[in-house]
Amino acid sequence: MNTLAVNNVYCGRSEELLAQIVPGSIALSFWSPPYFVGKEYEANETYESWQKMLKTIIKLHSFVLKPGGFMVINIADILAFKDEAMPRIQGMNISNHKCPITKEMILKAKKTYPNYNRDQLADYLGCSEQTIDRRLNGNNIRGGKYQIQTKVKLVGGNLELFAHEAGLYLYDKRIWKKDPTWANSRWTTNTLKAVSETEDIYIFWKPGEYVVNRSRLSDDEWKEWGYRQMWDIQSVRKNDDHEAKFPEELARRVIKLFSDVDDIVLDPFLGSGTTAIAAYKEDRQYIGIEKEEKYILLARNNLDNIRTQNQLFELESVA
Ligand SMILES: C[S@@+](CC[C@H](N)C(=O)[O-])C[C@H]1O[C@@H](n2cnc3c(N)ncnc32)[C@H](O)[C@@H]1O
Repeated sequence: MNTLAVNNVYCGRSEELLAQIVPGSIALSFWSPPYFVGKEYEANETYESWQKMLKTIIKLHSFVLKPGGFMVINIADILAFKDEAMPRIQGMNISNHKCPITKEMILKAKKTYPNYNRDQLADYLGCSEQTIDRRLNGNNIRGGKYQIQTKVKLVGGNLELFAHEAGLYLYDKRIWKKDPTWANSRWTTNTLKAVSETEDIYIFWKPGEYVVNRSRLSDDEWKEWGYRQMWDIQSVRKNDDHEAKFPEELARRVIKLFSDVDDIVLDPFLGSGTTAIAAYKEDRQYIGIEKEEKYILLARNNLDNIRTQNQLFELESVA
């Protein structure tokens, strides 16, 4: 079986390709998996298949990581997905009354015209039949009170369990404070739930010696983020080539903290190539794996551009 060479990116599923990495060669694996939120690249996953995929990939890390190596996972800890099994009662949004017809007005009309059905009452009051129904049934929810509910679920505990089963220990957790989602996004509509503003960075350690080397960071970097739990980093502004990129600065910080120059950094969910690019810029080696052909082409293209820029820069410095 061929082994995966460093400073290359490969197209395929990580459940299969991770077995082709030299065992014990990876100092740091940094990745952001699909979040099970309905993106195009996870359209075929069920909650169960998604969990199984994460479990398998985490298990394979116990072989590819070197002793003392780190597996760092960026994920939105709080998932929200439709669940048929949940009780179907949704919160009533009082502030959404756009039509001025109140329940009292409808009850008054019903008293005057006791034989009117909902359509006749609607004609009489100049509103829709749905408004009559909503007001009379104490429900002002678009789509209805008995729609399938959204289940909210924490993911970190599952990652911790899968890692523990693979002999990897939770070492630390940092929080990425990103830009809040847009005020009117679907996450806020008709609920009391907060707009998502953070993502989590779970750090797992494979038992073995590791180095604490403060000189990997400048004094300012140590003070600003080296030992800080909350990392304030702007989200990626342009997602037109890949729908879920993380910022290069996030990858840069993880790489500088948890690996050394020349170490091999892995990303088994490479996407547009952000981790590989940050690794290259920080003088680390990299291996990237991505299942979608179009994203592998994008990652290769992004890496080629960075290499070319770097070569031009070196030529200019010599001249
Ligand atoms: C959240 S995105 C990662 C984005 C990346 N961090 C970036 O900045 O561009 C997850 C990526 O994993 C890929 N992916 C999903 N399942 C995979 C699997 N089993 N093996 C390899 N890649 C997979 C998806 O196609 C997607 O590009």
